[in-house]
Amino acid sequence: MNTTEEFEKDIEFFDREAEKREILNILRAKPQLINFIYGPINSGKTTLITDLIEELPENYVVFYVNLRRKSVIKYEDFIRVLFSVEKNKEIKDIITGLLAKAEKAIYASQGIPVNDSLLDTFLKKDSKADVLEFLENYFKEISKTKDPVLIIDELQVIGDLEIDGKLIYRLFNFFIGLTKELHLCHVFALSSDSLFIEKAYNEAMLEGRANYILVDDFDEKTAKKFLERYRIKGEEIKYILDHVGGKPIDLVELIYPEDKKKEIEQRISLRSGQIERALKRVKELGEKIIMDDVKHDVSYENLLKTLSKFKDGEEIKCNEIDEISESFFAKKNVLFVDPVRKMIKPQSGINLLAIREVLKEIRDV
Ligand SMILES: Nc1ncnc2c1ncn2[C@@H]1O[C@H](COP(=O)(O)OP(=O)(O)OP(=O)(O)O)[C@@H](O)[C@H]1O
Ligand SMILES: [Mg+2]
Repeated sequence: MNTTEEFEKDIEFFDREAEKREILNILRAKPQLINFIYGPINSGKTTLITDLIEELPENYVVFYVNLRRKSVIKYEDFIRVLFSVEKNKEIKDIITGLLAKAEKAIYASQGIPVNDSLLDTFLKKDSKADVLEFLENYFKEISKTKDPVLIIDELQVIGDLEIDGKLIYRLFNFFIGLTKELHLCHVFALSSDSLFIEKAYNEAMLEGRANYILVDDFDEKTAKKFLERYRIKGEEIKYILDHVGGKPIDLVELIYPEDKKKEIEQRISLRSGQIERALKRVKELGEKIIMDDVKHDVSYENLLKTLSKFKDGEEIKCNEIDEISESFFAKKNVLFVDPVRKMIKPQSGINLLAIREVLKEIRDV
């Protein structure tokens, strides 16, 4: 493939004007709340935040930590993903570098830069060095001259990590300290795990201390504009919107295939097969689900009742289905739970149509 073709296949960042405005307004004010950015899977949360960082002016220093980049199962993994290492440098020189004059925001995209000796200290088993205390001082130094912004992507990865109690609670406390109490640093936590967001939303400790920003799939008008950009014809656009909806990744993947209808049918069939299989397993083998450390039986009948809510509609209220089925389908990424709006919907248009296929199959048996 030559470079021109490669360039043609490059999909440009599209829209998100309203979400960007909302985030920029937060960044203009002093840090006050922990900002949770949530939404269905693949709705474009990471893409939005990384694109926005590129546009920020010079007064910001952005630290981006993606917990999905490394497997995080113990404390050392967390430390390694939190920090990036600059060898043979004094920490004060690293900070001076972050405070240097620049045209745009300085962006540490691989975590918080420290030197190797500091990282070694943090990683030592019997080390007394308090990482969170160190970070607070680090952000304090930055905030004397610039505005630090801490972004943690995929925060749910450490949702269950135990290090002298749940790490997530210590982090929440730390974030509250950075925002509401000291107004030192903006904090954004991204997650596509709706059960994690639901937990955070109902967490007493975060009451009045957190803000929730929904990054949903594109609405119909935006999705249409996006497809028009890639010169897709009117009737094809209608077919795509009716079957796929506005999930950016699905739209991107439908730009180039010649036979879009076939591609969509294949996806629906694949997904409905997966859902059917999950149901069959519950019916034949039974299944238990752990919620707040308690095991519950999953009911096949309740699962069907849940799916049948989407026979005609696309969205239901949270109280229309039972908690166990909600959790079952959320964990399988079939349903997206929005605790803020108290609504539940399929994770995507493909999931919605797959659910309807499954319902038809089961009725026909
Ligand atoms: N605004 C956009 N313009 C163009 N393409 C986009 C946009 N948003 C998302 N995409 C496409 O969708 C893909 C998935 O987006 P992204 O990874 O940002 O979603 P996410 O919500 O962070 O996903 P996850 O739920 O896995 O965290 C991107 O790789 C990109 O191809
Ligand atoms: Mg993401």
